[in-house]
Amino acid sequence: MTDSRVRQTQSDISLTVNGERRKISAYPMERLLDVLRLKLGLTGAKEGCGEGECGSCSVLMDGALVNSCLVPVLQAAGTKIVTIEGLAPGDSLHLLQETFLECGGAQCGICTPGMILAAAHLLNRKPKPTTDEIREGLSGNLCRCTGYNQIIEAVAEAARRRPAPTTTTGTTGLII
Ligand code: FES
Ligand code: FES
Repeated sequence: MTDSRVRQTQSDISLTVNGERRKISAYPMERLLDVLRLKLGLTGAKEGCGEGECGSCSVLMDGALVNSCLVPVLQAAGTKIVTIEGLAPGDSLHLLQETFLECGGAQCGICTPGMILAAAHLLNRKPKPTTDEIREGLSGNLCRCTGYNQIIEAVAEAARRRPAPTTTTGTTGLII
């Protein structure tokens, strides 16, 4: 008797992650978050809620901030993904990583990769955001530890220190 359940088979899927072309075998509906963490070993993106509410799994996909727990990997085929691991070249820290450290914007760290990517996405569009714009830019990312003030100060401090936005980085396409 024929099994009426739809049998999914794995597909070869190519995508660019942190500037590197990657080809993986995955089920089309596998979550991008799982592919990044389990197949590519990029554990920076964290699973908080698993249902699009907390932002701890945030990554950039073709420059847009997305919750990777909600993205089927097939949807990411052919796109350019940036995770927290690819935000700064080599062992150096991104300006936002420095200011999060200095301002106490990272405590338990679960929200931090997503927060920093959301902040980078914000500063890329809005180099000198107001406090309200920072709050709005980070509104999809929840933090249970900091009370948010240190995070907002870290983003504001990065905006203050940010050099004139004349160059984009090759890997991320972000300005800083
Ligand atoms: S784990 Fe993806 S939004 Fe919470
Ligand atoms: S630092 Fe713990 S959730 Fe934000």
